[in-house]
Amino acid sequence: MDGVAPPGDHLANAETVEVADRRRGFGRSGLERRYQELLDGFAEFGIRVRRAEQDACTEGPGFYVLRVVPDRGVSPDTVLARVPALKLKLGLASEQAIRANIDRGAIVFEVPKKDEDRYPVMAKELWARVEWPTNQLYAPLGEDVSGAVVGIDFSSAESPHLLVAGTTGSGKSVALEALLQGLARAYRPELLQFAMVDPKGTELVGFETDPHLLGDIGMFADDAIAILSDAVDEMDRRYSMFRQSRVRSLPDYNATAAQPLPWRVIVLDEYADLTADKEDRKVIEEKLQRLSQKARACGIHVIVATQKPSAAVLSTTIRSNLPAQLALRVRSAVDSRVIMDEAGAETLAGKGDAFFRTAKGIVRIQCAMLGS
Ligand SMILES: Nc1ncnc2c1ncn2[C@@H]1O[C@H](COP(=O)(O)OP(=O)(O)O)[C@@H](O)[C@H]1O
Ligand SMILES: [Mg+2]
Repeated sequence: MDGVAPPGDHLANAETVEVADRRRGFGRSGLERRYQELLDGFAEFGIRVRRAEQDACTEGPGFYVLRVVPDRGVSPDTVLARVPALKLKLGLASEQAIRANIDRGAIVFEVPKKDEDRYPVMAKELWARVEWPTNQLYAPLGEDVSGAVVGIDFSSAESPHLLVAGTTGSGKSVALEALLQGLARAYRPELLQFAMVDPKGTELVGFETDPHLLGDIGMFADDAIAILSDAVDEMDRRYSMFRQSRVRSLPDYNATAAQPLPWRVIVLDEYADLTADKEDRKVIEEKLQRLSQKARACGIHVIVATQKPSAAVLSTTIRSNLPAQLALRVRSAVDSRVIMDEAGAETLAGKGDAFFRTAKGIVRIQCAMLGS
């Protein structure tokens, strides 16, 4: 397990996870009761549906998912049209929406939980469930509506650089910290370096003494420019080393090299503050563009975070340079479109409820939090 700290070193042991799992959510019996209510509801309307054979009901931190199969001769439209009646029966609030879909031969209802039934996703428990890869830079972000782990693979062409955006209180800092701590726990400092800019000086303090940190945590636009320029130079240096060794990527290089090259993750928090000045903004955007074009193969990755996801702050170029997006709750559908090209993030519940979008598609997740 080269590159990954041994389990037990930093991960909760299996027993703790078991106990925690049983304590959280409404569990199997609560889930079955809700499933029965769903079936009863359809029976009352005389709509014949049966239990899906696979994953009939699954529970996640903020949602539960129920799957039914219409009997022969029952049109899926008849089933889908009952969403408002289900909403009433399950006692949901007006702003909570049931999403209905057709998937693998079943009709799927994603039902939001009441606040008191939601449970947090604890980062330590999540880390313990993950098989950390050694040849990719990967970290879990949270759980999807069914409770499955969702993570970001920075080494994949689908998600090399990440935008994290959401309004104040949406859970941006918590999500970012859990992501970065996950990386720090899994990859030794010889294999991973952080370069960080935190204009507020409060968000990333947890990393001040972290052995992964390159230099100091920056505060100003000049610091961001220095970090990005250095990364561009490092990228060019790495490519010439790759050419000499006739390899194409960091894992290939490290497989043969005596001295491994570390992954480098650059974090720019409060991007709006860093790019307030027009000249600075031009330089920062230009460097980001160079990095986004070819930094992935040499193991350099960028995370940009902002609480002001407006078109003025995030130009289309910058957005397209950050192919993965974690959209937490935002104020308006317009902001949501700036982040992830579609509306929806304005309807999120806050506190780590998020859409994670990559070239592969969008998943709704509950982001992990560190906790004690
Ligand atoms: N993933 C999460 N799980 C549970 N609660 C969360 C989560 N993320 C945020 N919260 C709650 O929301 C509050 C605000 O989160 P924070 O990350 O500071 O927001 P932001 O940085 O977007 O302003 C936190 O103090 C916490 O109580
Ligand atoms: Mg914050």
